[in-house]
Amino acid sequence: MCGIIGYAGHKSAANVVVAGLKRLEYRGYDSAGIALLNGGGSLLTVKTPGKVTELEAELGAMLAEKTEAGKSGLAIGHTRWATHGEPTQLNAHPHLSPNGNFAIAHNGIIENYLAIRDRLISKGHEFRSETDSETIAHLIEEAYEGDLQAAVVTALKQLEGTYGVIVISAMHPDTLVAARSGSPIAIGIGDGETLIASDVSALISHTKRVVYLDDGDVVTVTPDNFDIVSLKDVPVTRGATEIDWDIEEIEKGGFEHFMLKEIYEQPAALTNALRGRLVHKDQTTKLSGMQMGPADLAHIDRFIIAACGTSLYAGMVGKYYLEDFASIPTDVLQAAEFRDRNPIIQRDSCMLAISQSGETADTLAALREAIRKGATVMGLCNVVGSTIAREAGRGVYLHAGPEIGVASTKSFTCQVAVLAMMSVLLGRTRRLSAEAASRMIAELARLPELAQAVIDQEPSILSIAEKYAHCEHAFFIGRGYMYPAVLEGALKLKEISYIHAEGYHAAELKHGPIALLNEDIPVIVAVPESAGKAKTIGNMQECRARKSPVIAIATEGDTDIAAHCDDLITVPRCQEFLAPIPVVIAEQLFAYHVARLRGCEIDQPKNLAKSVTVE
Ligand code: AGP
Ligand code: GLU
Repeated sequence: MCGIIGYAGHKSAANVVVAGLKRLEYRGYDSAGIALLNGGGSLLTVKTPGKVTELEAELGAMLAEKTEAGKSGLAIGHTRWATHGEPTQLNAHPHLSPNGNFAIAHNGIIENYLAIRDRLISKGHEFRSETDSETIAHLIEEAYEGDLQAAVVTALKQLEGTYGVIVISAMHPDTLVAARSGSPIAIGIGDGETLIASDVSALISHTKRVVYLDDGDVVTVTPDNFDIVSLKDVPVTRGATEIDWDIEEIEKGGFEHFMLKEIYEQPAALTNALRGRLVHKDQTTKLSGMQMGPADLAHIDRFIIAACGTSLYAGMVGKYYLEDFASIPTDVLQAAEFRDRNPIIQRDSCMLAISQSGETADTLAALREAIRKGATVMGLCNVVGSTIAREAGRGVYLHAGPEIGVASTKSFTCQVAVLAMMSVLLGRTRRLSAEAASRMIAELARLPELAQAVIDQEPSILSIAEKYAHCEHAFFIGRGYMYPAVLEGALKLKEISYIHAEGYHAAELKHGPIALLNEDIPVIVAVPESAGKAKTIGNMQECRARKSPVIAIATEGDTDIAAHCDDLITVPRCQEFLAPIPVVIAEQLFAYHVARLRGCEIDQPKNLAKSVTVE
C-alpha cells in the first residue's frame, strides 16, 4: 500500500526522500523510515512509528552528528501500512540485511515469507523484525556475488506474493535497484538525478518525465541512467510518459484540507470529465478510449462492473444507467467477490473495472480474472497510466485531476458523469431515442453548475453539521437512484468522522434496522424529486415516529418535504438520473464538517489507505 521512494543524484538524498515521503502521506500509513549511505561504506537507517515529521526530526538530529550521511546522494524511504507485525520502530522499513550492507523498502505482501524465514533461520540468520519484508534483505545478502541487480533477481525469484521494492547497497553508492510485481513503481527521469517511487506525486516536483514498470520488471538506476530487465534477465524497453499534473494541483491551495479542496474542485473536475464528450448535434456522446464502433458496442449483451468502496457505489449508479438507458443487464460486484465466486462470463460480456487510483488490488485481480476468462474489459480510472488503465487497454479516464484526500469525492461525481455518458453512447446503439439522449446530454452539460449550487450551500450544511456532530450513530436512507447515493453518504461519514453510519434502502429500514432508532440517532434521507419520493416521505414519518431526527436532502423549492423533517439541505432541481451527483456533494460537505468539528484527521483517517494495493 503506502509508499516507497528512492533517489540517486547530486542533491541531499535525505532531503529529497523526506520531501517525497510527505507527498506520499496522503496514501495513509502508520510508520516511516529512511536508509542512506553513511560514508565509510556503511548504511544508516532512521525509522519512527507515526508521522513523517517525527522521522524528519529524528533524522535531523542524527545528521547533525553524522555529517557524511547528510551529503549522501543515495537514499530510500518508506511509509508503511503494516500487514505483518505491529507498526513499531523495529518493524518499520527500510530493513537491513544481517551484515548491514543491503537495505530494502517494500510495499506489498510476501506470502511465502514464513517458509523462507524458517529456512534462513536454520542456516543461522537472525531476524530483527516481525515483517514479511525483512526476508527480502536476507535473500539479497545470501545471493550477492558482486552484482547487485543479479542478487536482487535471484532473491525475487524465490518470492510469492506482491511487491514494489527498492534496494540500495553500501557497496554500490550510486545505484538503486527496484522491481515490481503487483505494487506500482514509476521511475522519474531528471537532469543528473533519477528517482523511483510508488506514486508519481512524489516525483513531479523533480521531473514530469516518468517510466512505469510492469509486473516482472527489474530496474537498475544511476543518476544518469536506467536499465530495465525482466526476471528472466531479458532487456525490456518501456516508453516515457509526460505527467500533465502541476505541483499546485497536489498542494492545498489555501484550503484547510485536501478533501475540502477536492469537494470545491468538482465543478471544474466535471467540466474536464465532460470536455469534448457531449456531441449535441448527433445526440450522442464520444468516448474514444473505449475504442469501439457502434457494431462492437451493439454486441455487448451484459456488463459486469467490479469495484470497491466509493467506486463500487458509483458502479451501482452505473448499473441503473446501463439498464435504464441502454437496456443492458448489468451486475455490480465488490471486486474481491467477483474473483472469489468464479463467476460466469458469457462471450459478449464486458467487464468494467472502476477505480480512481487504478491500483486497487481487488479490482485489478477481478480485471485479470475477467481477461483470463475471455471477457472484453474496460477500465474507468482517474490516474493516467495506472495498472488497471494499462492492463484493461481500453476504457475512459475521468480527468478529475489528482485526488489526494483519502476520502474519494470528485472521483465519485466524475465516475457517475462518465457512466451516464457511457449509457447514452450504448443506449444510442439500442433503443434510446435521439430526443431522450438529447435531453440527457443537455442535463449532463449542466453538471458543473449543479455542483456549484450545492457547494454554495456550505454555510447551511455546516450549521446542520454543528447540530449533529456529537452523535455516535447515523442512518442514511434513499431509494432508486438515491440508494447508492446514501450508501456513499454513509461511507463518507464513517470513514472520516468515525461515526457509525449505515446506508440502507429506504424500504429496508423497517425490516430490522428500525429497531435501533431513537432520539440520538439521526436519519439522513435523500429525497429529491423522483418517482419514489412519496414512498420515501412515508419512511421519513416512520423514522420520526421513533423520535429520530430527520435531515432531508431535497430539491430546492419542493414544498412537500419541510413538514416531515427536522433539518433540510436543498439541492438544485435536475433530472432524476443525475440527482446522485448533487446529493452526494451535499453528503460530502456534511461528512466533512462533522469530521472537522470532531477534530478528526480528515485527509488521512486512521486505519485507511488511499490506494489499497493488498487483497
Ligand atoms: C473512498 O472514500 C474510500 N477511501 C475507498 O472506499 C475507495 O473508494 C476504494 O478503496 C477504492 O479505491 P479506487 O477507486 O482507487 O479503486
Ligand atoms: N508487508 C509489509 C509490512 O508489513 C509491507 C507493508 C507495506 O506495504 O507498507 O511491513
